[in-house]
Amino acid sequence: MSLISIDNLDFETVKYLLELANYYEYPYNKKNYENILKGKTLINIFFENSTRTSLSFQKAMLNLGGNYLQYDVSKSSINKGESISDTIKTIENYADIITIRHPENDIFKQFNSNKLVINAGNGTDEHPTQSLSDLLTIYNCNNKDINCINNLNIAIVGDLRYGRTVNSLIKLLLKFNNITFYLISPNELKISNEIKLLITDSNCYYKEDNDYKKYLDAMDVLYMTRLQKERIKNNINLDYYNLSFNDLKNVKKNFIIMHPFPRNNEINLDIDNTKYAKYFLQSKLAVYMRMSIITHFYYKNINTISKL
Ligand code: NCD
Repeated sequence: MSLISIDNLDFETVKYLLELANYYEYPYNKKNYENILKGKTLINIFFENSTRTSLSFQKAMLNLGGNYLQYDVSKSSINKGESISDTIKTIENYADIITIRHPENDIFKQFNSNKLVINAGNGTDEHPTQSLSDLLTIYNCNNKDINCINNLNIAIVGDLRYGRTVNSLIKLLLKFNNITFYLISPNELKISNEIKLLITDSNCYYKEDNDYKKYLDAMDVLYMTRLQKERIKNNINLDYYNLSFNDLKNVKKNFIIMHPFPRNNEINLDIDNTKYAKYFLQSKLAVYMRMSIITHFYYKNINTISKL
């Protein structure tokens, strides 16, 4: 079993992943898990750049007593014309867990693997481990009460057409109830109809707009995203979405600002030290969530989940 899409997860699994990530957060539990993946190896196969995703997967492995091998696509035999499926077949000999980031949406249809494969971002489609880390952040900011995720007002702002984190985040939040999504983008960067249909068919709601600041005071979460320049040919910019401290005068007490990062100029630095800024917390909690994902799926695969 692999984690390719949020569609692979039911609500009970999401709940379990949050609880397990929460368990990993506490240093006093360390002795119970620090060797749980001893002798196991993770390899990140990343065809696109990454800072947080690649490092947090590696850190997660180290925290669990496992290890990782470095694989650098730019120096690999892919550049001699090797196919992705030959690369995967080879890497299966060295890895127990394989994470893949690739610019093509259908990359996971191009090969089979007998190892645990985790999607670390496929084109404009999904980034499930990012959105699970995002969910953990929302959960942590709401007293770790899973019920608080219901009824949220969340503004998702920026490049909703080419950004994959937003697709996974919306799919994940649709497992909860009565969430209202404010989907804010320029017309050229609107979210796909497929995602809008999913919302329509759920017990959540959405509203689309080009501007978000008028909604800020009613929001619980603001999720900013950058323009996916590497996927866009025409000259769009999102500079007018820039958020500054002055915009936050009347926000709710528990309002939070998130961003999967990297940021360009979506969020001014004057916000970083305020209580609203949760984007660095997101990358910190990503380690615990990835520990949770790795152990849950790895042990599920080899059918020894009782080990935990
Ligand atoms: C995101 C991605 O790769 O989709 N980055 C990340 O993993 N945190 C967001 C982005 O690149 O804009």
